[in-house]
Formats: sequence, C-alpha cells, structure tokens
Amino acid sequence: MGLRVILAGMALRDFIKPRLQDCLMGMMDDLRPETLVEVEGEVLEVGFGTGRNLEHYGSGVKSLTGVDPMDASSVPKVGARIAQTRFPLERCTLRADGELPFDAGRFDCIVTTWTLCSIPEVSLALAEMRRVLKPGGRYVFIEHGRAPNASTAAWQDRINPFWRRLADGCNINRRIDRLVADGGFELASMDRFRAKGPGIFAHMYRGVATRQA
Ligand SMILES: C[S@@+](CC[C@H](N)C(=O)[O-])C[C@H]1O[C@@H](n2cnc3c(N)ncnc32)[C@H](O)[C@@H]1O
Repeated sequence: MGLRVILAGMALRDFIKPRLQDCLMGMMDDLRPETLVEVEGEVLEVGFGTGRNLEHYGSGVKSLTGVDPMDASSVPKVGARIAQTRFPLERCTLRADGELPFDAGRFDCIVTTWTLCSIPEVSLALAEMRRVLKPGGRYVFIEHGRAPNASTAAWQDRINPFWRRLADGCNINRRIDRLVADGGFELASMDRFRAKGPGIFAHMYRGVATRQA
C-alpha cells in the first residue's frame, strides 16, 4: 500500500512537473529571441526543459543536442515543438553536472536559459560545458540571479533555502557572471537588467562568453 502511494505520487509529479514548468517558463518567452539570435552551428542546449527555445533559433543552427534530466517529450505540446523543428535534434535525458557523453570541442555553441539556477553542482556543469565547446566557441545564456543592490540580495539569501525546496532546486541568489568566469569562460558581452516580476526573482544576466583555447 505504502509503495503504491509513493509510486502514484512519483507518477503524478512526473505528469505535473513538465506541464507546470512549461506554463511558468512561457512568461519568459519575450526575452528568448534577442538572446538566441547569436546561436549557430552545432549547438548544445543544457536544461532543454520543454523545448520552449526551439522556435526562436535562427537559420544558422545546423543541429541541436538537448540535455536535461527531465524527459518532457511525452507532453503533447513538447512533442509538437520537437516535430516542427527544422534542424536535426537529439535529446539526452541526463544531468549536465556529471560527465557529458560528448567529445571535447564537439560544439560551436552552448546555450542555457534559466538553468544555471537549478543545477546542483553548477561548477562541474560549467567545466563540462567548457570541455565540449570548441576553442573560440560561444556560450550564450540568459539566467536569473543575484540582484545588484544589497537589500534585495540580502532578501534573496534569506528566502533561498525555502525557495530551493519549493521550486525544485532553483536558487535565486547565484552570481551568474562570477560562475561563468570561474568556469573558464571569457565574458564577451553581458547585459544585466530587471525583468518583470518581484525583484528577488527578476534580476537577469544575459550574455555571450567565449572559450579561449
Ligand atoms: C527553469 S527550467 C528552464 C527550462 C528551459 N531552459 C527554458 O528556458 O524554458 C530549468 C531546467 O533545468 C533542468 N535541470 C535541472 N538540473 C539539471 C542538471 N543537473 N543538468 C541539466 N539540466 C538540469 C530542469 O530539469 C529544468 O528543465
């Protein structure tokens, strides 16, 4: 009986999680086109989620490999997005903070959108991303993170332990620029701005970083 309840709870979670995530991440759609315009070649998207970026990639994308521990492809909307994609697409259900099953220097571009917040061992993931990116390749990202003003940042620190439990591991107080630089990337451009919504969630870091040889 107990096991059956646990299994039913897990199945319900697997059903609800991608649908809820897809709905919430739709609120970010207006920020995607301007971010993804920079992306081209053989692309690795870490934190593929429900495929909301697919329709925003430009004609320069030759192929896309999506990595995410959550497999949302059984959700009809996600299946439809994947079916409409005009470049070859491979999905891998795995975490990026382990060893990625790709050769060093395989990708021209790596993309994350609102994902670094949720990766438990984010430095490991960035090291793997750097390894599989070509020398001179680009890491294109838009992420939310630590606010620039001290009082909002202090609130982020207070709320983060509770929020992380509630929101499936999402951290609201990470210093994204520092994480990217410490991961061995060189920031070519970065734009920090406040998006809509409560301040503790709305501080955005949008940028392009390169991997030097
Ligand atoms: C807030 S969602 C963003 C999804 C998508 N990038 C978007 O823009 O809609 C964060 C995503 O990170 C994924 N994620 C969590 N831990 C991860 C890990 N260790 N490696 C790769 N992706 C991870 C989650 O499954 C989720 O799909």
